This record gives sequence, structure tokens and C-alpha cells, in this order.
Amino acid sequence: MASYRRSAIWANLMKLTMLTACFCKGIESNGIVGFTLTAPASLSVRRGHCLHIPCQFTYRSDSSSMNEDFSAYWLKDQEGAEYCFQGAISGGCVQGLLVATSDDAQRVERSAENRFFLTGNPNKGNCSFIITEAQLEDEGSYYFRIMGDKGLKFSYSTTYGYTSPHVSVTVSEGPQDVKIKVVIINSQTPGSSRKRDLGAKVALEGDTVRLLCTAKGRPSLTLTWKKDKESIGIPKQGNENAYEISSATLKDAGKYKCQAENDFGSATETIHLIVQYPPRFATFSISQIFERDPPLIQDFPRVTVSLVNGSRLVVQEGDSLQLLCKADGNPPATTVWINPMLEKLTDERLELVNLTAKDEGQYLCQTDNFLGSAQGMLMLFVESSGAPKMILPANVDIILLFQLGINKMSCCICVIILCNCWNLNRRKAPK
Ligand SMILES: *[C@@H]1O[C@H](CO)[C@@H](O)[C@H](O)[C@H]1NC(C)=O
Ligand SMILES: *[C@@H]1O[C@H](CO)[C@@H](O)[C@H](O)[C@H]1NC(C)=O
Ligand SMILES: *[C@@H]1O[C@H](CO)[C@@H](O)[C@H](O)[C@H]1NC(C)=O
Repeated sequence: MASYRRSAIWANLMKLTMLTACFCKGIESNGIVGFTLTAPASLSVRRGHCLHIPCQFTYRSDSSSMNEDFSAYWLKDQEGAEYCFQGAISGGCVQGLLVATSDDAQRVERSAENRFFLTGNPNKGNCSFIITEAQLEDEGSYYFRIMGDKGLKFSYSTTYGYTSPHVSVTVSEGPQDVKIKVVIINSQTPGSSRKRDLGAKVALEGDTVRLLCTAKGRPSLTLTWKKDKESIGIPKQGNENAYEISSATLKDAGKYKCQAENDFGSATETIHLIVQYPPRFATFSISQIFERDPPLIQDFPRVTVSLVNGSRLVVQEGDSLQLLCKADGNPPATTVWINPMLEKLTDERLELVNLTAKDEGQYLCQTDNFLGSAQGMLMLFVESSGAPKMILPANVDIILLFQLGINKMSCCICVIILCNCWNLNRRKAPK
């Protein structure tokens, strides 16, 4: 409050001074006549770097100020702040914060201590100063003031009637602190009892995923998104850029990179998004078939036949085969085979050797992860060897027929997939 009032008084006082100056213009050298300051109006420095501000000034040198020994002061303009001079010089108080001076009796602002230096010799009209290790808070405008031992006091500031603009300093900075915030909104109804991974970057299929990239840097940054090196979303100027995946699918899983750039550099941040989903059938097949005689020859030609869920399969007694059931899922699905005796086998592969009528029945493959399950089923029929069997089960989809040639090594395998019209020609099947 007090400082505000005081600056108000000062402002009024200055208005009065200016008024007087205008009134008396040309009659008497007064006020600002004879005072000049030559310095760049605006300068930019990179954070942490050093800024040299060249500056020259003149002051009215009439008989009263001749041979006056004076001190120089650089002040940072700041609304509501003021500096009151100490020691022998009674200069009262001025607006702003003192940052550099040739006057040892004064105390500069703490943040400017040992960083701001007046390098010019004020008695030679040199008001140059430097800012070392520039900080973001150094940004602002600065004005120069002189005070002599014989009563000369002058501020090269518009606040005090001087018309030249202050020296304005901006501090630039390459991109810093690039961060990605991930918000995953569960698509499932609230209260769902399903267990889920609480890791912030793991989404379930169907979830909404919001990625928010934030960064610091001056001047304004450009923020862009990339997914697995491909550009996505819209580049944005400023300190944040959001990207939303409205209903996550497997395709949305991958590396998301946010890049922040300005003239002073670039920085990135990457997150890995995992999309989890229930098992889906990838493979349901007979991966290998062995002929019954000779048994399990290693180099016997391999045959892989894909099975349709609910397939009916006919083999001959003594045949051996391997069934393969694989589901794609994230987290990876576990596979359990259940045979007609309801025995469970935890493996993707089910090996059936030397088949007999006892092995006939339903084979079920069950795949699970915490998000769900998928099943595959097949019916196996075993034909007895010996006299050729004329009776076949109903709705046979696949018949595996092995024929041995004269040379056992050169055998021929025929896999006949029968269509429904073929079924019409067959006899009625037993139940
Ligand atoms: C003013 O002082 C600075 C720092 O000492 C110096 O580099 C510069 O040359 C001087 N300027 C003039 C015009 O003498
Ligand atoms: C296959 O099973 C039959 C009947 O159980 C048996 O006689 C035969 O030795 C078995 N063959 C092989 C190769 O295990
Ligand atoms: C396969 O068939 C079984 C029984 O008809 C069914 O429960 C299961 O959902 C089916 N699986 C697939 C992947 O279609």
C-alpha cells in the first residue's frame, strides 16, 4: 500500500515536472533536454547464457553539473516495487529493483547479485552492463539512473519523464520438461468385476485413451505427436498438445512420441501403450499326422490342415496325430485341451498316438486370459482298420486318408475335404 501511494505521488510529481518542462520549452534548458541514452530497445538471451548490453548516455553538462562525480544504477522496472537509496547519497526512493550499480553503498536485488554487472565507466558516458547466467526471471525492462555528488539525479525512464523506451530483455529457452500424461477411460460399465492391470499405460480394447503432452520453453514451442515414427494428430503451438484414441484397438498399441521444438532446440518424450484384449483364435489345426505303419517316422511328410470350429474328423485306427490350438491374446492366453474322458492337458499341442475307438469323441480347446476366453471344438471318429468301412459318420468335414505306395518312403497323402453334395451320396451314418 505504502509503496503504491508513494509511486502515485511520484507519478504526479513527474506530471508536474513534465508540464513545467513543456511550458518552459525553448526558454530554459530544463528537464530532459541534454539527456540521451543509446542502447538496444530489445534484446534476447538464452537461459543460462550471458548478455552484453552496450549502452551510452549523455547528461546536461551545465556549470552546476560540471566535474560532478556520479554513480550509475540499472534498475528493473517492476510494478509496485521500489528501491530506496542508502548511504551518503540521499536519492529517496525510485520505482523498480536495483540490479547493477557502480555505487558500493547500495544493495542490489538478491537474484541479480553476482550476475549483473555494470561494465561501462559512467564518468565516460558508458552505461554498458552484462547479465550472466540469464534466468527466466530476468525477463523484463530495465532503465538507467545517474546520481551525482553535487545534486544531479536523473532516471532515463518514461516513468520519470524520459521518452526513450527502456531496454527490454527476453529470455529464450529450448524445450524442457517434456511430459506425457496418460488418462485411460474404461469403456466397461462401472463396477465391472474384471480384474485389470492398473499400469497407467495399459488400456483394454475399447477404452478411450487420452495422451496429453506438456513442455516448457520460450519462445512458443511446436508440439507434435508421432506413433511408431508416423505423424499423428495436429501439430500445435504452445505448451500442450492432446491426442485422443476414442476406442482403442490392437492397432493403437505402440510407441507414442511427443516432440517439442523451438528455434533453440528440440526434446522428446515417449510412452509405450499396451492394448490388452481377450483371446482370439489364431491357429486351430492338425499340425502333424503320422501313419500307423511304420509308426512315427521322423521324416514322414508333414501335413497341416486348418480346422473349422466344430469340425468332424475321421482317421483310421492306429493313426497318430497332433492337434494344435493357439489363441492370440494380451496378456497371452493359456491353452487347455480337454479330451473325451474330460482329462485336461495344459499345452497348445495335443498328441494322439495309435488311435483306437476309445479315443473317439469331442476334443475341446479352451483358451483364456483375464479378459475372456475362446473355445475350439472338434469331433474325432476312428475307423477300424481291416475290411474297408463303408459306414461313415454324419456330416464329416475332413477325411484323412493315407495310402502307402510300393516304396514306403514315397507315400502319398490325400486330404479330402468333402462338401455337402458328397455327403448326399453316402449311407446313413450311425449315431
Ligand atoms: C563501454 O564499456 C564496455 C565494457 O567495458 C566496452 O566493451 C565498450 O567498448 C565501451 N564503449 C565505448 C564506446 O567505449
Ligand atoms: C497300437 O495299439 C494296438 C492295440 O491296442 C496295439 O496292439 C499296438 O501294438 C499298438 N501299436 C503301437 C505302435 O503302439
Ligand atoms: C466353437 O464352438 C463352440 C461350441 O459350439 C462354441 O462354444 C465356441 O464359442 C466356438 N468358438 C469359436 C471361436 O467360434
